[in-house]
Amino acid sequence: MKPDLSVKIKDITFRNPVTVASGTFGSEGEYQGWVDYEKLGAIVTKTVTRKPREGNPMPRIYETPAGMLNAIGLQNKGIEEFIEKKIPFFSKIRTPLIVNIAGESVEDYVCLAEKLSHLKEVSGVELNISCPNVKKGLEFCAQPGLAYEVVSEVRSVTPKLLITKVSPEAHDFLGVVEACVKAGTDAFTAINTIRGMAIDVEARRPRLANVFGGLSGPAIRPVALRYVYEIKRRFDVPVIAAGGICCTNDALEFIIAGAHMVAVGTANFVEPRATMEILSGIEKYLGERRLESIDEVRGTVKVDC
Ligand SMILES: Cc1cc2nc3c(=O)[nH]c(=O)nc-3n(C[C@H](O)[C@H](O)[C@H](O)COP(=O)(O)O)c2cc1C
Repeated sequence: MKPDLSVKIKDITFRNPVTVASGTFGSEGEYQGWVDYEKLGAIVTKTVTRKPREGNPMPRIYETPAGMLNAIGLQNKGIEEFIEKKIPFFSKIRTPLIVNIAGESVEDYVCLAEKLSHLKEVSGVELNISCPNVKKGLEFCAQPGLAYEVVSEVRSVTPKLLITKVSPEAHDFLGVVEACVKAGTDAFTAINTIRGMAIDVEARRPRLANVFGGLSGPAIRPVALRYVYEIKRRFDVPVIAAGGICCTNDALEFIIAGAHMVAVGTANFVEPRATMEILSGIEKYLGERRLESIDEVRGTVKVDC
């Protein structure tokens, strides 16, 4: 018998723990042909904002050892076009859809969440309060009080699964997490990218027009694992892990640390089938150990101290 990979968060049962990280999986069907969208546990969209955004000036991507810097700057066409043009595509796919949103004010987040709360195609909302590449992107995870405000206001307008995306750029990381839990978040995504920089020594200029960019990929995996573990050690709240997950072993590390789901990000650019390979790898891991369910693996890390 095949092991049970299903994962429950709030009132949603995801068929398995493998999902994608916002902004790394195109904006609708780009990965078709490599990925069976109906085999993913969930689909997470790129950040959608209230108004269209052009994003930051080029160059805005730079490859680094074991990772990349990006300063895309939340380029997107805005919520109205998202609802009109993208939702119809996702409505045909029988996989829970999580829409990632960002704003510059509490009002922006509330407006976006409210609009999405009316759509049956949307299973959950992911609050991006941790984008390092835009003005005010990190504001709401800079202080527990601000994080509380945005999460509680959004909570009051949507009954949908509410996930808050956090970053180690928050100086009081666990304080922010605690504030979000108190404000009613149902889960966390951890982590967003971490600001970094690269310089072209010939031109003596930053490699990115934005100077700083968010570092992602395997380079940040141990950091992400630490933060996922820290959340799980302190709070009984589901976590969707992100940060350098490239293969089955990486995904299992996060699940053993306590993550409910694993989001594949930068690895999609290197190996577009990464999610599918990780999914069958997890299934094999359970099968070889005669484990019946992913619940027998989650949070089983043995720590002596
Ligand atoms: C090119 C690129 C674009 C991204 N865009 C978004 C975004 O729009 N919203 C968001 O919340 N995170 C965004 N992220 C962050 C990822 O969702 C993820 O949290 C981070 O990259 C860590 O995972 P990874 O190391 O597997 O890529 C982006 C990352 C990359 C590399």
